[in-house]
Parts: sequence; structure tokens; C-alpha cells
Amino acid sequence: MKAGCTMQRAANLNDKSNESGSMNLTVAITGASGAVFGRELLHALEADARVARVHFVASENSLRVMAEELGVSGRHDLLERLLGKAPAKTVQHADVNIGASIASGSYPSHGMIVLPCSMGTLAAIANGLADSLIARAADVTLKERRPLILCVRETPFNRIHLRNMMLAAEAGAVIFPVIPAFYNRPADSAEMARQFVNRVLAHAGLPQPGAYVWKPDE
Ligand SMILES: Cc1cc2nc3c(=O)[nH]c(=O)nc-3n(C[C@H](O)[C@H](O)[C@H](O)COP(=O)(O)O)c2cc1C
Repeated sequence: MKAGCTMQRAANLNDKSNESGSMNLTVAITGASGAVFGRELLHALEADARVARVHFVASENSLRVMAEELGVSGRHDLLERLLGKAPAKTVQHADVNIGASIASGSYPSHGMIVLPCSMGTLAAIANGLADSLIARAADVTLKERRPLILCVRETPFNRIHLRNMMLAAEAGAVIFPVIPAFYNRPADSAEMARQFVNRVLAHAGLPQPGAYVWKPDE
């Protein structure tokens, strides 16, 4: 399959569903820096009426990063603490639970976003390891030809990272690096993360209210 075709297909999580409240998405947060971006994504999907269900998986190593970056420690009530309230539509699965619904292609998911995506998780996905729920759900997403968006974060990249990004892209994933914009002059990191998430979701076919749009001529 040509990479160009798969990228076009993978660009829109909303392809199969335009009905209100019928989308079913998987979100993973892994142990790369940028937990605030993952938290903003969960907030946005909770608030989006087009989305009925979000399956959330946090890798074990993401917990360490969330403790460092967000001051959120441990797995207990993680969603409540990330969202600041009880989730209405988001359910959490343990990364060791390879028997969860999203581990099977028979489960009707519309796609998956990994934000942030560590180089370790990228390597697992790019090489088909499927040895954790995150890697397995991503593997299933690719084999079912559903959209997979990998928001990778590392700097600088070594050749292994670059090769794995190419492998994942060739398999149909969209590599959407955590590189926020500055031309919208974000006031703080939360605003920066919000606008980045707006770009991810616009790319996925879920344009968000309040998304910054560059209009140089006005
Ligand atoms: C504070 C902190 C920041 C990190 N930032 C990154 C990062 O930006 N990118 C990355 O690939 N790994 C980063 N790591 C290392 C990953 O957490 C580590 O490779 C881990 O094994 C990834 O596991 P996971 O993919 O299962 O979450 C960071 C670790 C810590 C503690």
C-alpha cells in the first residue's frame, strides 16, 4: 500500500461516523515528556458531543512522567485527577490488560491517538511487538486499517527513532510530533497544549471550537 494513500486515510477519525455521539476512540499516554498534552486531549474528547466513548490507557512509565510534570501520582483515580471530575464517557484500562476490548479488531473502534508517544512505544508499534495493551491496540488499529496518530516526542532523534517513524508511517500511522506552534502567542503551557490538541483533532476530522486559525490578511 502506498504511504500517501494510507496517510490520507489515516487523517480522518471521523470518516466512518458523522452522527452525533457515535464515535469510539482510544487514547494512550506514554512516558514521553508532555503529559499536559495528553491531559488536554482527554478534556477535549470528554467535551466533544461527537464522541461517545474514549478508551484510555496510561503506560506504567507515563505515571512517573505525570508525577513529575503534573504532580499527579499513582494510578488510583487517575482519570478523575486528570480531568478534575468524574469522567462521563472515558474508561481506563490497565496497560497489562491485553484482554481489553480494544485489543481485538472485532471491537468497533474508530481510531487511536498516542499523546505523547515515547520512542519506546514508537519502537514497539513500528515493530509489531504487541506486548502491552497500548502496543496491541495500535497494532490492531493498523491491521484493521483504522487511523492511528502517533504524537512522538524526543529531541534530538537518533537513527533508530527516525527509522521507526518511517516504519510506522509506512504501516499507515500518522507521525504528528509534539511540536507546538508559537505564532498564536500562547499565554502559557496549557494554552499551548490546547492549541496543539486542536490541531491533532482537526487533522483527525474533529475540528474544535476555539481553535486558532492563521488569518494574516484580516
Ligand atoms: C521525566 C521524564 C521524561 C521523559 N521524556 C521522554 C521523552 O520526551 N521521550 C521519550 O521517548 N522518552 C522519555 N522518557 C523516557 C521514557 O519514559 C522511557 O523510555 C520509558 O521506558 C517509556 O516507556 P513507555 O513507552 O512504555 O511509556 C522520559 C522519562 C522521564 C522520567
